[in-house]
Amino acid sequence: MAHIVSITNQKGGVGKTTTAINVAAGLSAMRKRVLLIDLDPQGNATSGSGIDHTAKTCLHLFIENTPVEQVIQKSSYGYHVIPGNYSLTRCDIGIMNHPRKAFFLKQALAPIINNYDYILLDCPPALNNLTLNAQGCAHYLIVPVQCEFFALEGLTKLLGTIEQIKKQVNPDLKVLGLIRTMFDGRSRLTQYVSKELEKHFSDRVFNSVIPRNIKLAEAPSHGKPIMYHDPKSQGALAYLALSAEIDRKANARQYANLLKEPV
Ligand SMILES: Nc1ncnc2c1ncn2[C@@H]1O[C@H](COP(=O)(O)OP(=O)(O)O)[C@@H](O)[C@H]1O
Ligand SMILES: [Mg+2]
Repeated sequence: MAHIVSITNQKGGVGKTTTAINVAAGLSAMRKRVLLIDLDPQGNATSGSGIDHTAKTCLHLFIENTPVEQVIQKSSYGYHVIPGNYSLTRCDIGIMNHPRKAFFLKQALAPIINNYDYILLDCPPALNNLTLNAQGCAHYLIVPVQCEFFALEGLTKLLGTIEQIKKQVNPDLKVLGLIRTMFDGRSRLTQYVSKELEKHFSDRVFNSVIPRNIKLAEAPSHGKPIMYHDPKSQGALAYLALSAEIDRKANARQYANLLKEPV
């Protein structure tokens, strides 16, 4: 069964989409079967994966009852994609008044959950109904954090929201880890915020750190993950290391849960 991992943070511009694309490619390079779902109407994970922007999205899946196999696209980088584009705004509004509005994605993924090792969800920078659907079906959250002054304040709010989501839609949801993005080790503020994150969240902070790297900013305009744009760049190496760490952590959690179950 796939690990469903939601990449989330209400804040925009923190590296969610960059992480979604490059972890999808990193896990695929490790021969994992990966599906990346773009839940952001901006569709950046879609175009950054070289996928047609006008293709079918979760709107078709949730509202028009299109079978899930018909909305899945194959990228040139090993992983599959359910695209996102502006039609998702209609999707968000279209499900608003449904009594089970948080569970459309969970229901849609049920027939294909065994076809993948990982299903990665790229969330929009808002707590809307699409994010609610991501958190409604995810096993794990990955939270990209930019090490800047307001990051800690934003995180406290985010953790509060996660507790509410656990109560209301998904009691099994767990934070797999916080990932430090756009890291500039020469900046004192970055170092301070990074230390604070380690102090407050200890083993929930990934050891891997994503440096600020111009190649990572360039790659989406070529419709490629960083490993295919510049495989030797610091950004590529960092995302490969993160992908391996995610795989280790997700599997360790799964085995730990199995041990708790009666034999
Ligand atoms: N490690 C990095 N180094 C340099 N630029 C980055 C890095 N991570 C993301 N970016 C750039 O920062 C901007 C915001 O990143 P993005 O992944 O789109 O954030 P989000 O999805 O959280 O809004 C994009 O232009 C992206 O290319
Ligand atoms: Mg994004």
